[in-house]
Amino acid sequence: MNKRSRIGACLGLLLTLGPPLAARAASPAAVVGTEGMVVSESSKASRIGAEVLLAGGNAVDAAVAVHFALAVTYPQAGNLGGGGFMVLRTADGSIEAIDFRETAPATATRDLFIGAGGNPDPVLSRTSHLAVGVPGSVAGMALAHERHGTRTWRELVEPATRLAESGFILDRYIANHLYVYQGRLGQNPEASRIFLRDGDFYQQGDSLHQPELGETLRRIARFGPTEFYTGETADSLIAEMVRGGGIMTSEDLRGYRAKIREPLVGSYHDLTVLTMPPPSSGGIALLQMLHCLEAFPVGRLGAGSSQNCHFLAEVMKRAFADRAEFLGDADFTPVPVEGLLEKSYLDSLCASIDPNWATPNLHAGPGMPRGAQEFYSATGGQTTHFSIVDAEGNAVAVTTTLNTNYGTGIMVRGAGFFLNNEMDDFAAAPGSPNYYGLIQGEANEVRAFARPLSSMTPTIVLRGDELALILGSPGGPKIITSVLQTLVNVVDHEMDIQAAISAPRIHHQWVPDTLRIEPGGMTVDVYQALERRGHALGRSSAMGSVQGIQIVQTPKGRMLLGASDPRRNGHPVGIVRGRLVTR
Ligand code: GLY
Repeated sequence: MNKRSRIGACLGLLLTLGPPLAARAASPAAVVGTEGMVVSESSKASRIGAEVLLAGGNAVDAAVAVHFALAVTYPQAGNLGGGGFMVLRTADGSIEAIDFRETAPATATRDLFIGAGGNPDPVLSRTSHLAVGVPGSVAGMALAHERHGTRTWRELVEPATRLAESGFILDRYIANHLYVYQGRLGQNPEASRIFLRDGDFYQQGDSLHQPELGETLRRIARFGPTEFYTGETADSLIAEMVRGGGIMTSEDLRGYRAKIREPLVGSYHDLTVLTMPPPSSGGIALLQMLHCLEAFPVGRLGAGSSQNCHFLAEVMKRAFADRAEFLGDADFTPVPVEGLLEKSYLDSLCASIDPNWATPNLHAGPGMPRGAQEFYSATGGQTTHFSIVDAEGNAVAVTTTLNTNYGTGIMVRGAGFFLNNEMDDFAAAPGSPNYYGLIQGEANEVRAFARPLSSMTPTIVLRGDELALILGSPGGPKIITSVLQTLVNVVDHEMDIQAAISAPRIHHQWVPDTLRIEPGGMTVDVYQALERRGHALGRSSAMGSVQGIQIVQTPKGRMLLGASDPRRNGHPVGIVRGRLVTR
């Protein structure tokens, strides 16, 4: 191994594992704002969002600008070629969810990802042109803007266009990320040229220019969002599909629609929780887990105690078992949303938790299929979340993704953006694990026009009528458990949002029956106590990357605490007395 590849291996490990617990314990303080706060995984994007607020835009305006900026400065997950979800609450108290999840092309069929040997072929569902769902991001931003925006569309896309055309200085995180993902990026000539400098590699401090992406953004700014779906950009995308043997057509693109959905509304103690309905599994799972936890003295037991870890593991198992069995795109398959959240059902689910012992082989399901363990270990999936609140109290939580890092790794030739591999979030076959090791059933089989089941969990929490928290995370299934634990840390363990985010996390997703622990995230006595209770324990990479805002009501008005996850690369930017404040 030469020196550069040794360094690369270390960087890869660091990107995967995140900083050790000791580093997280020394996590920074939250940024305090009064007139607005934007928290994203890119300093440039957060700043752009805060500048929109400063210029008089509202939280939705800022969200549109941040989303497009992330497509430039956070290429592994920020996107034009992906999708996501927005949960928003306006200052007058109305709530809404915008679903801009990708859809399966019209000719997609149940067996699309079954390979020659009759088994699911992960190459087909992750890195081929067949893996690409019809992108929803541009339509999602357009719908949010049309309903709530106050600034012009052009004005909100413009900062991203400038960043792409003029270039921006790479920070260490992104430079390292590009280096570590050279295998994926190197397979596509466009990606190799733009992001690897054809093998010359970027270093921290270099400027990254993306002229093709700049031109695409300029067209979208000038001709509006439909340009992406019916204009020159659409033509380039379909030409890419034809070149690579994809099945997406011009009609698929033209027919894509983002959808308004009603957020799920649940409660936790005295708080109201607004979160994402199907095709996300995240909201249902989050509300199920919170209901069960309410029955236990979580606060009194203390953060990180073996008893609390036991309760968390048991509620996680149950929610993920239901996810596997019942959840899919409710527009195409019956999903018993109300039943899954009904008090009597949840009470019986929670009653099956033994306070002392792990429940083995939780109810009859597809069990542990061949290969689940192997796939489970591949948990470095990417997505990104940002949270925004403005001076009036409009609040926006957005989680957006290409699915895995850089999606398929396929760039649209000449257009400068990556295509998602969201089709892998469908069940390639009932009971077969996806990239995240998630077992899924027929409710989530590949269907023409359907949206694949997601774990993204953008969430807004209220205390009475007042905003209390805005949060969300990347991390595949760990999104749901990261959001859960952050919320519990604030509510039950009285941590501020930054401490709540920085605290170590655990994760259980039913199959495999292993409770995952972050490196350095648990003391030996807790570890042993959990083993004695019958939990199988395993290590995992750093879990999630929560970007959150806590809203504290003070006699002088709202105080906004912006907090980002030290596991990755978050950047809160607040506004105080008309000035931007950050770390
Ligand atoms: N692609 C990851 C998710 O939506 O859960």
